[in-house]
Formats: sequence, C-alpha cells, structure tokens
Amino acid sequence: MSNEDITRPWCLSDALGLIVPATMRLVKCSVVTFISSAEALPQDPYTDNSGGMMMVPMNQEQAAASKQLQLTAHGEVLAGRSDIRGYARWLLPSDECQQVPLIIKETGEHTGSRVWEGSWLYLRWLMCNLELVRGKSVLELGAGCGLLGICLARTGTATSVTVSDFKGHGWSAEEGRSSVMDLLHGNVLENSNALSQFSKAHTMHKSSTLHVLEIDWATPQEPLRWQLPALVAPKKCTADQHDVILGTELLYSTQGASLLLDTLTTWMKRDGAFYLLNNVNRTGVKEFRAGCHDRGLQCTPLEFDQTQLSVNWSFGKNHAMDNTYVLFCVTWAK
Ligand SMILES: C[S@@+](CC[C@H](N)C(=O)[O-])C[C@H]1O[C@@H](n2cnc3c(N)ncnc32)[C@H](O)[C@@H]1O
Repeated sequence: MSNEDITRPWCLSDALGLIVPATMRLVKCSVVTFISSAEALPQDPYTDNSGGMMMVPMNQEQAAASKQLQLTAHGEVLAGRSDIRGYARWLLPSDECQQVPLIIKETGEHTGSRVWEGSWLYLRWLMCNLELVRGKSVLELGAGCGLLGICLARTGTATSVTVSDFKGHGWSAEEGRSSVMDLLHGNVLENSNALSQFSKAHTMHKSSTLHVLEIDWATPQEPLRWQLPALVAPKKCTADQHDVILGTELLYSTQGASLLLDTLTTWMKRDGAFYLLNNVNRTGVKEFRAGCHDRGLQCTPLEFDQTQLSVNWSFGKNHAMDNTYVLFCVTWAK
C-alpha cells in the first residue's frame, strides 16, 4: 500500500465552495445539511419544525442555491440587520453520499466564532501540502470554529490533531454567552461521530485522533483539556510540544503578536515548524517577524500563490482592507 492509498487528496470545489475529495465527480455530489429551526432564518427552505437533523441530497444547482442562502444570511448578521446568533453551517459533503459529512457551525459572537477567509485559503493550501504533517503531531492555535483542524483530522494524515483557542476577547461567565471554546468543542463533538464512522468505513483512511485544548496565549503554560465526550469539566494538563503548529489570521494586534510568539516557544518542538497564514496588512505582522528574531526563531515567507488558492466568495470581507495574504514558516534558528 503506497502513501497515496492511506490518505485521499482533498480540494476546495470552486463550483460548490465546499471541501470535496479531489477525485469526486461533482454530479455525484450529495450534501447533508444540519440547520436547527431555532437557528435558521425563517425563509430557509431546509428548516424543519422539530429542530432536528435534515438529510438533503442535493444536486450541484441546489448546493449552489443553498450556499447563496447561507451567504446572504451571513451578510445580514454581519451587517447587523439580523439578530440571529446561530445562523449558518458550512456544508462539507462526503464522497460516499450521505455518509459522514463534516459540519462546522459558526455563531458570529466573537472574533473566533466565524470561519475567516484565511482559513479557507489555508485549508486549500494544506490539502495540497499534506506531506508537511504526515505522521506528525499537529496543534492548531486560535482555531476558532475548528474548520482547519477538523478537516485535517478527517484526512488521517497526522498522527494527532489538537485544536485550541481561548474563551474569547471580553468573554465573561456572568454574561451567560457561549465562548469560542464552547463553539470549538461543540464542533469537534458534532463531528466526532462522523470521524469515527469514517475510520470504520475506510480502514485504509483512518482519521487522526482529535483533541481540544484551551490555550490562552497570555498563559500558554496553563492549558486546559476539554474532554471528549463532554461529561466532565475541562482539566489542567501539561504543555506538550508538537511537531507542527498551524494558524490562520492570528495576527491583528501588536500585543497579540507578542503573546503568540511566547505561546509558540512553549508549544513547538526544537525541530518543529509553525505555518502561519495572515492578511499581510494587519497590525502585528511586522511585529511578529521582528519578535521571531528576538526569540531565536527564524521566520521565512513561503511561496504562496493566492490567486490559485483563493476562494471566489468570501464572508465578512473587510472591503477597506487589501486582502493579500502571507504564509510564514517559523522554525528555531540554527
Ligand atoms: C481572526 S480569528 C481567526 C480564527 C480562525 N483561525 C480562522 O481563521 O477562521 C483569531 C483567533 O485567535 C484567537 N485568539 C486571539 N487571542 C487569543 C489568545 N490570547 N489566546 C488564544 N487564542 C486567541 C481568537 O479567539 C480567534 O479564534
């Protein structure tokens, strides 16, 4: 059995805006949606009254229409014209029709509670560069909704995938709002069945073990492990170093850049690498590069053809900002 047999190549379908196995013929595409009535917009055709799960096999046209619907809904929420908090699920089809779809929920409540454009770009880049994580322990920092880590776990390329975040800027227990961690943990739980079904159905295509950690960059030595299943409260654990660290859109403040570097030096192995994709125009990008040097790290921009990878639709685009992305590889300096 060759390496190619073990994991399948994935790609982002421009036609559908969905993650699909590269070999999948779109005409065979079937999409499973999950939208609860409490969360969906009233005009959503896939809303059912019970708030339960709906299985909707779609053709390409229907999938495009559904995507458009979610796009509109998302725009409404971001523009403040809708007070609906949970409003959209991204649709990730499985290749074997109704089986094991991946479902990523967003709520838009915090910075980390929606999938940022960089995550889609990064996912597409990663799916073309899976060799970088093959057989490695992988940690995603600031994972937000968990799109990247959950999709990576599904490919079964890494030995383990850990997604991490913190509760959120300005989050407080008193307010009673759910945190980024609740969303991330919820998305992992929601997909854990799909991941294990996938492993069982495809003995050659095992998914990686998926873990959830709360890592606040302000206190990187004090992680908490969020349990799967979720019957027990998060527990203190050790800060184990990883082979590969992933991150998208993590730089947007000077202080954040400095905290992120402290976190990196705690969590990255001596021969490890951190691949970070970020909008080049954000505050903190220059400071991050300078800070690498100060901490004995080497920061190398990688070739990254954004036009090849870009997704031609985007949620919550900041039109005032040039959406040019940079991809850094950070290692310990020799
Ligand atoms: C712009 S969002 C990007 C989210 C996700 N990576 C994506 O691209 O969709 C930045 C992420 O960094 C996380 N973050 C910011 N400050 C953090 C801190 N001090 N500790 C841990 N995570 C933090 C946020 O919660 C959020 O998930």
